[in-house]
Amino acid sequence: MAPAARVLMCPPDHYAIQYEINPWMSRNRPSDHGLAVRQWRRLYELLEQAGAEISCLAPVAGLPDLVFTANAGLVYEDTVMLSRFRYRQRRGEEPHFQRWFSEHGFRVQRLRTAACFEGAGDGLFCGDTLFAGYRRRSDAVAIQEIGALLGCRVIPLELVRPHYYHLDTCFCPLAPDLAVYYPDAFDDYGGAVLQESIARLIPVAKEEAQRFACNAVVVGRTVITNTGCPELRSRLEALGFATYETPLSEFVKAGGSAKCLTLRLDGEEAAAWKQRTRVAQPPSAVQNCSD
Ligand code: ARG
Repeated sequence: MAPAARVLMCPPDHYAIQYEINPWMSRNRPSDHGLAVRQWRRLYELLEQAGAEISCLAPVAGLPDLVFTANAGLVYEDTVMLSRFRYRQRRGEEPHFQRWFSEHGFRVQRLRTAACFEGAGDGLFCGDTLFAGYRRRSDAVAIQEIGALLGCRVIPLELVRPHYYHLDTCFCPLAPDLAVYYPDAFDDYGGAVLQESIARLIPVAKEEAQRFACNAVVVGRTVITNTGCPELRSRLEALGFATYETPLSEFVKAGGSAKCLTLRLDGEEAAAWKQRTRVAQPPSAVQNCSD
């Protein structure tokens, strides 16, 4: 039996819209706390049903975006490249993520340069290649440094639209040769590079991109998204995926959705290195954190 998918989440106890660091966020559009908690729990349950073992980072008052664990760092085998956030509002998250990784058996690497990098929000493996978004949150120079450190091929992709400020808002690898993307979030060059590099590339329409269709969580052959992505779901069902949608409106208000609320600790399904390292994983630290 294949080992379970290992996922890091952080309960939304202190989640709120307290500042504005992307175009989705407005302090005039607050999140409903009770609803956010219910939406987060439902996502947690769906992930568990899909076979994920979920670890939880303890929530911290004053760090509302800590729920978006995709931004903790970039996992590669037993190493994590820790994030350095663009905005000071999120910098306080770094030591909490660092401590969690160190205490759970990861080798924590920090960038040597002063550049910014926002983890699995901007770095996604598809096959042997690390696709990396830059300009809005991560710097191109950070991506180069990570490629050199990990010894992997990196394709930097400029994120041209402010609403699609992290790569995981407009690109989602599903298998080493299969990904979903929102073409308008990239320039012509980026679009062409994606088409040349990934054999099966599924474009999503604007209406579904705005519903965070590309911010999907993939666990085995199960894909979970926000509600309102019917076209993508039928494309994926036709390819043999089981798809689920679950309302995440309260997190969309912060510019995040399903994928942003998770970090895959054992590597995404689409990462070629994951297939090679199935046996040698860092120790697992599962705890129930849905209550
Ligand atoms: N409010 C958060 C921010 O602007 C949302 C992060 C979403 N995370 C992601 N991986 N796309 O940083």
